[in-house]
Amino acid sequence: MKTFIAILGATTVLGVVGSAFAADAGQLAMGKERFDYWCDTCHAGDPREAGRFLPGTASLNAKYNGSRPGALVDRTDLLPPYVELVIRKGMEGMPFFRKTEISDTEMKAIAAYLSRNTRQ
Ligand code: HEC
Repeated sequence: MKTFIAILGATTVLGVVGSAFAADAGQLAMGKERFDYWCDTCHAGDPREAGRFLPGTASLNAKYNGSRPGALVDRTDLLPPYVELVIRKGMEGMPFFRKTEISDTEMKAIAAYLSRNTRQ
């Protein structure tokens, strides 16, 4: 009986850990999908079409002058609260986004995606 309970306990722990990872991967996938939809036109790192102008990447390249990557997806210093603030308030040449365009869940997913390489 003890062994049975131990196995049951271990399976439950594995199950919980497993689903936490699954939720994380799902959130990152949603963040990437929403970023590509709403933000990529200005913030793409890779100007696939010749002559495509990316106001976000271009501004940030000029602002940081090589000290940080211009493309948001390559950043390693972004924190979720900052990304969420910029999404809701906008910034210089960047429009803000309403909850009817980007829901709180989607906003948090985008922030998690852009902060995935930040050591916290
Ligand atoms: C119409 C073009 C445009 C769109 C669409 C856009 N941005 Fe921006 N974004 C900009 C510009 C331009 C800047 C730079 C502002 C400046 O120079 O201070 C910027 C700056 C930022 C910054 C600040 C980076 C820093 O280093 O301070 C973040 C974060 C950001 N954008 C996130 C997003 C996210 C997330 C989305 C999609 C939900 C998005 N942006 C959509 C144009 C855009």
